[in-house]
Parts: sequence; C-alpha cells; structure tokens
Amino acid sequence: MPTVRDLQAMAGEKPITMLTAYDAVTASIVDDTGVDVILVGDSMGNAVLGHEDTLPVTLDEMASRVGAVARGADDALVVADMPFLSFGADESESVKNCGRMLKEEGANAVKLESGPHTVDLTERLTDLGIPTMAHLGLTPQSVNQTGYTRQATAREDAEEILDLACEHEDAGAFALVLEHIPANLAAKVTDAVDIPTIGIGAGGDCDGQVLVFTDVVGLSESSPPFAEQFGDVRGEVEDAVDEYIDAVESGEFPAESHSHTEDELDDLY
Ligand code: KIV
Repeated sequence: MPTVRDLQAMAGEKPITMLTAYDAVTASIVDDTGVDVILVGDSMGNAVLGHEDTLPVTLDEMASRVGAVARGADDALVVADMPFLSFGADESESVKNCGRMLKEEGANAVKLESGPHTVDLTERLTDLGIPTMAHLGLTPQSVNQTGYTRQATAREDAEEILDLACEHEDAGAFALVLEHIPANLAAKVTDAVDIPTIGIGAGGDCDGQVLVFTDVVGLSESSPPFAEQFGDVRGEVEDAVDEYIDAVESGEFPAESHSHTEDELDDLY
C-alpha cells in the first residue's frame, strides 16, 4: 500500500507524476501505466459531470468516485479532493467528511483547496492520521472571487503564497499543489519547503506535475492554457461510434456470431 512517506522520498530524486481519474476503469489504466498519485479531483464537475465549474460537486458524488478509483488502483496513492463547503466551515464536520474518504472509500489522503482557513484543519487532520495535501494559487472553488486567471502576479500575493506554503508544511501537510502561479514563485516555494510541490501551470521546478486526465488524453472540449494534450481519445471514440452506427445501419452488426438460437424453439408457434 503506497504511503505519503514513499511519495516524500521521491521528491528531488525523480519527478512525481499525478493525474486525475474519476472511475475504476480509468484508474486501473492510469495505475498500470505507473502514475505515482491519482487525484480524484473535484474537476470531475467540469470534466465528467457536465457542470460549468467545480462548485456543485457533492460529498456523496466524491465519495462514490473515490471508492471506484480506489477499487481500480493498486499501486498509486489515491487522493480525495474535498468538494466545496465539505470542509472549512465547521471543524468536526470537516474531520468527519475527510475521514469518510479514508474510512469508507479507500482513499490514502485528502486534498484541501487551501488558504488561511485551512492551516488549523490541516494540523487536526494530520494529527488524526488523515494525510492532507494543500493546494495554493488558483483554487477553482474560489472562482467567484478570483476567476480562472493567473494568481500571485503581485509581490504581496506571492509573499502570501510563500507564507501559506510554510504554514501548511508546519501544520503537517504532506505535499502541496501549486496552480497557475509564476514559475519563479513556484521555484521559490519548492526551495522553501521540504514537502513535495506538485505544479499545474507553475513551471518545471516543482517536484512533480499534475494534470486533468481528460485534458491529457484529448477528451476535453476545452482545456486551460497550461494543459497539454498527449492523445486524441475523443477522435478515437468518435471513430469507434461512427463505425458502430454504420455497422448497425448497414446490417453488418450483429453477425451470427453475436447471438444464438435454440432448435427446440423453432416450432414455438
Ligand atoms: O480538481 C482537480 O483536478 C485539481 C487539480 C487540477 C489539481 O484540483
């Protein structure tokens, strides 16, 4: 079973790879391919649930997807991304919700979109044995305050991120996602903390990288500017479905081999 210590041992030795997955099939493919961390991201809101943003994702939806991913993955560390308002408002409710991901669904850790309000909670969760990944920079659950634009472009905001990174490390966070911040700030944060930093739109100096699965394989209709498409699964799916429609319409499918007959039914009427 992978642990956060294994992940921490990798930092600086080999770049950490993290990718999202939202179901057991995808998780098993991603896991077999050797990705180090699977994030059951609340990006499922836009990526697979058809929402405009991540805000509507519910705790039950996350729990169901985390369970599926944990069943599909053998080797990767499975991290549950806590949905909007499932943490932060009330400590004991937050602990219960985060704990459910490990206790009932098989996650190895949780991720919190972080800020000043998550420092104490990170400490509490860590004390209770719930490994917690922090997430700074662009935090999509705050889209109504920040939009999806680059974060920490001003010195004061950059200093706040650096401070928050250190505070979350001190509170016990085992790793830190840095999203859509200047590469030179991400490099500074990576130098300043001992825990692994995992970047997304944060340059090449982080200890690892994370992207959304549907962006990577070419399933998304649109992707953020910092994502890279490494395949054309949408095209492959379209070709397969086109062939299926043609085969049904032309009568080529089903062939005899796709069904069976029973002789004793021939004289049924
Ligand atoms: O929800 C998500 O997929 C994320 C990553 C993009 C870091 O938070």
